[in-house]
Amino acid sequence: MRGPIGVFDSGVGGLNVLKKCVELLPDESFIYLADKANMPYGNRPREDIARAAFACADTLFSRGCKALVVACNTATVTAVDDIRALYGSRVVVGLEPAVRPCIKQLGKRGYAVALVTQATYRSDRFNKLLFSCEKKIVPIAVPELAKLIEDNVDDISRINDFVKSIFRDYMDAEAVILGCSHYTYITDMINAVYGGKIKIYDGADGAARRLKYCLELSGELAKKGEQTPKIEFLSTYKE
Ligand code: DGL
Repeated sequence: MRGPIGVFDSGVGGLNVLKKCVELLPDESFIYLADKANMPYGNRPREDIARAAFACADTLFSRGCKALVVACNTATVTAVDDIRALYGSRVVVGLEPAVRPCIKQLGKRGYAVALVTQATYRSDRFNKLLFSCEKKIVPIAVPELAKLIEDNVDDISRINDFVKSIFRDYMDAEAVILGCSHYTYITDMINAVYGGKIKIYDGADGAARRLKYCLELSGELAKKGEQTPKIEFLSTYKE
């Protein structure tokens, strides 16, 4: 199948995932949907998040997308399996916290903190992932953080003190896992909190690589010169 690749998130977070996808797949066209009307997903009940994620998938597939990237950890843990089941043969890639790559690099006694939204913290999928990790990962749910990032993305330094306060009790951590696509915007801030002595894991690269792999496998990867690659941006708004 031909067509653009649909990418969605509740807001600006998924733009970091889109960037990685564009870098890795420069011959593809993309449609990015920011579901601002339903932001923040992470503070909503499961059914609301699933409904919002299905509406995004429907919008993007109705516009002729050949594949979908759920560029949101919260929507992925909540709905990616059901979206895959509904859209059958379509390539649907989710965004997962980079727990496994982090575990591989952790020292014997070290631990990592995984920053996630409340909904991800509660989800079965995330808890199963943690269960397989010999308790080396400490999950932290920060209900306000994604919305604070969304509202301050033009000058992220405004939330510096708040970000510092999150890590106060975890200054001996070896690594931080960003379990929400919005958190990529505070990567430098987290680095500064730890004086540059921390490893930070972001799932965006993994999602982009997975997308490329799946498109190769399904024979749907755009060929060089086949089209002029475009990126279209869509958004939902609160009435
Ligand atoms: N960016 C989303 C994620 O990756 C969630 C932000 C929100 O709560 O809307 O989990």
